[in-house]
Amino acid sequence: MTVIASRELPTGSAAARDLDDVMAIMEEAFDPRFGEGWSRAQCRGMLGDANSWIIVDRQGDRPAGFALSRMIVDEAELLLIAVQPEYRGRGIGRNMLMEVARTAAARGATRLHLEVRDGNAASDLYSAVGFEKIGRRKDYYSGRNGERFDAITLALQLDPQTA
Ligand SMILES: CC(C)(COP(=O)(O)OP(=O)(O)OC[C@H]1O[C@@H](n2cnc3c(N)ncnc32)[C@H](O)[C@@H]1OP(=O)(O)O)[C@@H](O)C(=O)NCCC(=O)NCCS
Repeated sequence: MTVIASRELPTGSAAARDLDDVMAIMEEAFDPRFGEGWSRAQCRGMLGDANSWIIVDRQGDRPAGFALSRMIVDEAELLLIAVQPEYRGRGIGRNMLMEVARTAAARGATRLHLEVRDGNAASDLYSAVGFEKIGRRKDYYSGRNGERFDAITLALQLDPQTA
């Protein structure tokens, strides 16, 4: 697993290759019906923010998964996590999530937040690692055909000892 520090991702550099890998996973991993995936411009913009960081998991030289997160004062937010369909069910998602929690705690976060579409099977993974439901955002996701989907907001208490 590679932890890439937050930085600008200029086209043509090694960092742009990282962004290419993230976008390749994004296209395969997210069902476009639900509007959960991000565009390249959104990802590039977030990675230009010094408070964000990304984890890219590679199996051999193939991009398998990524997790994009950011710090907001003393809390962290997991913005996106995805694993290529062919690599799912092997613990990659869980490992990246735990790495995000460790990195967030090391950066001084006391809680890790996320939003997940109501009905997304990823919720099972979040409850398995200890996330608790704290609310609902009505019509948060905007799907391909104009449909709207609620988001469930979850939070995980972070233990500074695990940093
Ligand atoms: C969510 C996701 C990242 C999980 O990745 P993964 O590598 O398959 O997850 P893991 O192998 O670490 O699974 C860990 C646990 O989560 C649960 N789980 C994960 N994905 C699941 C799914 N699609 N359906 C049911 N349970 C799931 C399982 O209970 C699993 O536990 P187990 O190992 O005891 O069976 C992956 O399914 C994905 O990319 N989904 C599409 C993108 C997405 O919706 N991301 C979340 C919103 S940002």
